[in-house]
Order: sequence, then C-alpha cells, then structure tokens
Amino acid sequence: MSTLDLFAPAPDDATLMAQLRRTLHEHAHRYYVLDVPTLPDAEYDRLFRELQALEARHPELVTPDSPTQRVGGKPLDQFAPVRHAVPMLSIRTETDTEASGAENFDARIRRELGLSPTDAAIDYVAEPKFDGLAMNLRYEQGVLVQAATRGDGEVGEDVTQNIRTIGQIPLGLPVDAPAVLEVRGEVYMRRDDFEALNDKQRAAGQKTFVNPRNAAAGAVRQLDPAIAAQRPLSFYAYGLGAVTPPDVGGPVWQSHFEMLQTLKSWGFPVSELVKCAQGAPALVAYYAAIGAQRDGLGFDIDGVVYKVNSLALQRQLGFVTREPRWAVAHKFPAQEMLTTVLAIDVQVGRTGKLTPVAKLAPVFVGGVTVTNATLHNEDEARRKDVRVGDTVVVRRAGDVIPEVVSVLLDKRVGTPAVFTMPRQCPVCGSAAVREEGEADYRCTGGLFCSAQRKQAILHFAQRRAVEVEGLGDKLVDQLVDVGIINTLPDLYRLGFTALAKLARMADKSAQNILDALEKSKQTTLPRFLFGLGIRHVGEATAKALARHFGKLDAIMDAPEEALLAVADVGPIVAKSIRTFFDQAHNREVVEQLRACGVTWPEGEPAPVAVQPLSGQTFVLTGTLPTLGREEAKALIEAAGGKVAGSVSKKTSFVVAGVEAGSKLDKARELGVAVLDEDQLKEMLDGGA
Ligand code: IVH
Repeated sequence: MSTLDLFAPAPDDATLMAQLRRTLHEHAHRYYVLDVPTLPDAEYDRLFRELQALEARHPELVTPDSPTQRVGGKPLDQFAPVRHAVPMLSIRTETDTEASGAENFDARIRRELGLSPTDAAIDYVAEPKFDGLAMNLRYEQGVLVQAATRGDGEVGEDVTQNIRTIGQIPLGLPVDAPAVLEVRGEVYMRRDDFEALNDKQRAAGQKTFVNPRNAAAGAVRQLDPAIAAQRPLSFYAYGLGAVTPPDVGGPVWQSHFEMLQTLKSWGFPVSELVKCAQGAPALVAYYAAIGAQRDGLGFDIDGVVYKVNSLALQRQLGFVTREPRWAVAHKFPAQEMLTTVLAIDVQVGRTGKLTPVAKLAPVFVGGVTVTNATLHNEDEARRKDVRVGDTVVVRRAGDVIPEVVSVLLDKRVGTPAVFTMPRQCPVCGSAAVREEGEADYRCTGGLFCSAQRKQAILHFAQRRAVEVEGLGDKLVDQLVDVGIINTLPDLYRLGFTALAKLARMADKSAQNILDALEKSKQTTLPRFLFGLGIRHVGEATAKALARHFGKLDAIMDAPEEALLAVADVGPIVAKSIRTFFDQAHNREVVEQLRACGVTWPEGEPAPVAVQPLSGQTFVLTGTLPTLGREEAKALIEAAGGKVAGSVSKKTSFVVAGVEAGSKLDKARELGVAVLDEDQLKEMLDGGA
C-alpha cells in the first residue's frame, strides 16, 4: 500500500456497497455451491443487513445482482413468454437397457464420423440425467437478467423471479465472464428437501407433492416469488445456450468438459458425477456405476447422458431435426409407473401382523413386473385413500418393496368403498387387534392361524436360517392345508409316502426334499436361533447371542439382565426373547427339533468382547460406492460405534464418498482422520 492511500477519501457508500455485494456473493457461493461455509451465519446476516441499510438510503444504487434482490418481486398473474435465442433441444433417448445403449451410441457416432474399428476410441463425457426441469439462465454483462423454462423448445416462460431465489445460482459473474452467457442446466429438488417440504405441507394441512420433480416444477411455476423462495430448489449446470462468439471476445473452449470446468469456476454448480469416458466400454461402466449409486444419491436421476466431448466433433456431427447427434440419454428403468388397483387383500405375516396389499394390474417398474404393492397399515391405506379400481402411482426403487405412492383422484370412477381393516384375521378368523400406540393390527390366533404357521415354517427353512432347499411357499401351503404339518418339528417327521402323494410332486422331488431336510439338521446356533422367528431377533442379533452365550440352554434360561449384556440387545429385544422362551410350547418345539436330530456345535461363552468400534464417533458425508447412508450407520452402530451429524473435535473419523461436502473440509481443518468405504469395512471387520 502506498503512503498516498493515507490521504485517500474514506470509501464512499457506492464503493462500500460494491464491496459488500462481492463479499456476500463469495460467501453465498461457498455456502450454497461449494458447501464449505467459512463465515458464521450471524456474520453473513450482519453484512447482509448492512447492505440492506445502505440500499435503503440509496435506492438508486441497488443493482439487480445484489444478494438482497433474490426475493422481492410481486406475485404475477402469469409468466411472460420468452423466445429462446438458441432453441432448447431435447435429446434422443436410448431405450435399450444395459450395455447396448452405450454401444449403440458409440457405434453410431463412429459411423457418422467415418471411423474404422482400428481408429482410436472417442472421448465422451458421461453425466447423470438429472430428474428436474431444464432451465436457461441468461447473463448480460455478468448479471443474471433472465431465467426461462424450456417450454416447447422455442418459447419458454420467464420465471426469473423464482429462479433468483435459488441460492446456488449466481446472480452475478466474475469480470472474465463473456458479455452474453446463457447457462443451461437442471433445476431440481434434493430428496431431503423434498421430504422436509412435504412434512411442512402436511403440518400445515396443505397438499403434498408426489415426487421431487413435481415439487420442483411446482416451485418454479409458482406465481408468488415469496412462496417459491420457501421451496428449496437446487441447480446443476450441464450446457450452454447463446454465448458471445470468440471473434468478438467470447470464450474459446475445446471440449464440453473444459467448458463445464469454466462454468464451475464462475460459480455454477457442476456435478462431481460428471466424468470423462473413453470409448463405449467406459460408458457401459459409467451406466452401471451410476445405476448402482442411484438410490443413495441425494437427488433423483432417471438415467445418464453421454456427450461427445470435443466441441469440434460436436459441430461436425450437428443435429437431426430437434436433437443433437452428439448426445444421447440412456435411461434407467422407470421407478414410478401408473397402474390400476384390482383388489385390496390383507396378508398375515409370521408374527400375525396384518398388512393391506394392493393387487395391481401387472406393471413394469424399477426393472421388474409388479403385481402387488404394500399399503403398510391401516393409517397409511387411509391416508392415501386407495380404493379398488383406482389409478395409482406405483414406485419401486432399488430393492425396496413396491409401494403405492398416490392415487389419481380425477381418474376415480364412481364412489368405490373406503378401505377398512378387518377386525378378524382373514385366514383363521381369530380376533385382529391393534394395540394402543401401535400402527399394526395383529391376528391373535398365534400358531392356531395357518398363515402364521406357514410363515413360521418358511422362515425356519429359508436360506439364511437352517436352509431346507426346495421348500418353497407352494409346498408349505399344501403341507399345512392338508394338515400334514402343523408345527416346525413335523417337518422332520415327513415321510416319503405322504410327500409323494401331494399334487404335482414327483418321486424324485419328494426324495430331494427329504434329502434337503436331512441336510438341514446339521446347522449352526445362530441359524437355528434366527430360524425360530423370535420377534426382533434378526440374523445379527442371533449371531451376537450365540457368540455371547455359546449354548442354546444358556440363552433359553438367561434372565433379561443377562440378555441385556449382549451387544445389540436392548430392553425390547431382551423382553421378547424372554417372553418367547417363557412359553412352554416354544420350549417344547425346541426340544422336539433337537429330538428329531437338529444339531449344531455349541461353544463356550465369549469373554465380554470389546466391539471393534466402541468409543468411536463417525460422521458420514457424500455418497459411498456400495453402502447406503442408513446401512453404513447401522453397521457402525452394530459394531459399537456412534454416528454423528456434524464434524467436531470429538469426531474420530469422517467417512467420505462422492460429492462429500463441507464435512470433509471441516475434517481436514480439524485434522480428523478421513476414511473411504473400504477402510470403514476393514474397521468393521475388526481390522484396524
Ligand atoms: S443435455 C442438447 N445433460 O434431459 C442437449 N440434459 O431432453 C441438451 N437433462 O429436459 C440436454 N440431465 O433438462 C443434458 N446432464 C444432462 C441432463 C439433461 C437432465 C434433461 C434436460 C432435458 C432432457 C433432455
């Protein structure tokens, strides 16, 4: 600084305002886009108010890119039409599933470019196909002047007021940005924001949204910007519209990827999942990798997009009608579809739980044909008001069981009856009761109820329990219905003649079943224990019990306090185990099974084991390659560790995946050790 500055006038208000705008922009960007806030919220608010005060004094100095101007517009009567300077195209959709989608695209590109099989692989960029709505953001002289929806591709709607409220979207650009810049990308709603919004809507007695996409579309087309501001939207940039050409000072880019990096440097959110990929095999791998991560991402995607990376090649390839030749969308199987409800059945589970299930006209969703969708319980069925004949949205995401998301009320014909839960078990006729504070009705018939008996047998015979190969639900139905089997031990009293007499049972199959039963007698304590179907005793708990006590009799006789000493066992589980073994008929079943020859090696009680992660606190951030957030949390907790929401000096480890945000930076700042998924798994196995 030169001495002359000592005599410089104090910054005038205009300079101060410009400085404040810059500072606030910088921190808003760190907060919303980079996810690494460095300024305390209170300090941001103070600067914001300071700027507001100055602007109140000098209304003529308020600029449209001021952070105070994100919300401010008046409610509109309608949106003004906007003719796009460059049409917003759609992209061709590759409908072939799996590998061939990427291969077809690569083959087509190579053919168009006249390449032979020996020519080098083409450079592509592979991106998620974000499931929101396309937006064109127009900047003039570095200021956001207009945001428009795609509309019909030629003419969209001016939704500038609403888009300004999205914190992730820069209102102003750095000085090196071109005079005219149109950035295209997807406005979407994160899943957690969607859930929170729906909770809020419900609490206020207002209508909820079917999915994040609809919620985002609703927010963008909200005429009152004050309401839009309360709908949390996000944005990812993926392309360009009109831009100042290079010959008049516009930017020069060689590739799509390079262009995205520049947009990022100018403050636009660009997904970390956008990757360069060489040739078809890399695209195929990308499709699979993103497909595997799909359910764990914080937002919905409906496929991936492949783009030729070189902008020169893109120009050479050009367009066919309304679609570029250089890009293609490769969709994942839809996770939501429409179908009709044929009936509503009530199923009886192993523990007597009654579950209403919608029987559906078969529909292909989430990669499989679905004919049943759970309605969970009475309250859920009532809340969604599903009725026979209704047109419904069915969702199946990942391995989650299919569910009815909502009813299309305007498609309802007539007034079908409201669903009511039966007060009697639909299978055995015993009373069905709903305990105070519980969501479920339960059949009180216990093992008198053939549905519960069937489920108990199937549970015992499943692969993860004692495993009786070939004993499926059809066979169990028959065995129980004709009365050959009533209790678990009856399984081991089955004779060849009785089995072979069953409908559709060949001698060979009957012998196979008998062999499988014989084989299942040699089992392990955790499998046997899990197979008994004690409420709340899953595989992990069964293993923990077996390790702790070593012998079945020790478990059967353990008082609740002794059970509580087992890692993984809390008061509810302890009580449930005690209740189970306090019933004479359950002990009888165990004795008879042993008498039939079911056996396992017994061990010594384990010394009170130190759990591998006890005393350690973990924070999860980003998307892990294979484990979902909840799954990772459950594993850590099962190994004695704790999972916290934010990083502090007390954090032992931060587990970071793709798109890890501020938590990762915080960890680095505090010197907290950072693990990837593999390292976490090693620790879970007791390896560290
Ligand atoms: S590129 C000329 N990239 O998919 C190519 N589109 O028809 C223009 N979309 O509604 C589109 N993610 O909003 C592109 N990574 C991505 C995308 C993407 C989602 C949407 C886009 C449009 C549709 C393409």
